[in-house]
Amino acid sequence: MTTYLSGVQPSGKQHLGNYFGAIRQHVELSKEEGEHFFFIADYHALTTSRDAGELREHVREMLVTYLALGLDPEDAVVFRHSDVPEVCELTWLLACVTGMGLLERAHSYKDKKARGIKPNVGLFTYPILMAADILAYDSDVVPVGKDQVQHVEMAQDMCGYFNGFYGDVFVRPEARIPKDELFAKVPGVDGEKMSKSYGNDVWIFATGKPLKKAVARIVTDSRPPEEPKDPDELLPMQFLALFLSADELEDWRERVRRGGDGAPGYGHMKQRLVELIEDVFAPARARREELLADPGELERILARGAEAARARARATVDRAYRACGLR
Ligand code: TYM
Repeated sequence: MTTYLSGVQPSGKQHLGNYFGAIRQHVELSKEEGEHFFFIADYHALTTSRDAGELREHVREMLVTYLALGLDPEDAVVFRHSDVPEVCELTWLLACVTGMGLLERAHSYKDKKARGIKPNVGLFTYPILMAADILAYDSDVVPVGKDQVQHVEMAQDMCGYFNGFYGDVFVRPEARIPKDELFAKVPGVDGEKMSKSYGNDVWIFATGKPLKKAVARIVTDSRPPEEPKDPDELLPMQFLALFLSADELEDWRERVRRGGDGAPGYGHMKQRLVELIEDVFAPARARREELLADPGELERILARGAEAARARARATVDRAYRACGLR
């Protein structure tokens, strides 16, 4: 049986990149045969969060987002990272077989440093925690966006180091990213990868004026609608491609290529995009409101998830303890 595992940081507002790159896959995979573990990475969020109340709020929001988008706790173990402290024990065991050089090569760490974020030790060593998250559940497949692939490869490396010393303790995981590059790395309103920390994101549940404002920020140029253009070069067209059916997309592309009278301008594209975001997420937005009104049920879901996830991780960590001589 295949075991699927992934995690999402509770950032407060999950964006289109989180949805198309990861959450949508998580929901779809959870309907398939296999074992499924999906968690809210609050330990990970501590590398940047400094407000306890806000972090709790964001964890609740992340759980509600998952559930509203269709993740059913009957199909998957849905849990909070910090409810499984076993992963911190495992982090130590893995840290002791991992060279500094591996962590120094991590893109996300290098990128944050280059952007002037002063790294704490947690941020530097976090790929070890992520490897522990993955290895603790004997995960075979880790569905993520492209930006997390290197971290899954690092988990493969750590799995190899530990198994090399102590025998076949851990299962080697594989990353799974959306086939289409656009979904594996969704662009932000500035054309860079969409990311909360770059401030170029669009919240999936945005609606009305705030949504229009977010979409208006998608970068365009000053060419008029009549001028024929290559649709692949236009950022608003890339956003539309996330949502449109193949037929409607081809129709837009053709009209953009042709130009002339009646060709769509950037304003049209953005208007259609606002409609699509409003419509596609409307059922989930309504469900989100219902879920937020029932905090007791949310607590019960987390408690159930914690119990199942923890039992599983404990067994793996005990196996690792025995293998390396701690028991
Ligand atoms: P996080 O919270 O940054 O992102 C959650 C998921 O969303 C994907 N994603 C994107 N996909 C496509 N385009 C984008 N612009 C985009 N932005 C984000 C990410 O690839 C990810 O799949 N380290 C993880 C959380 C984590 C984890 C784990 C994941 C902790 N432990 C173990 C898998 C397994 C993170 O920070 O994701």
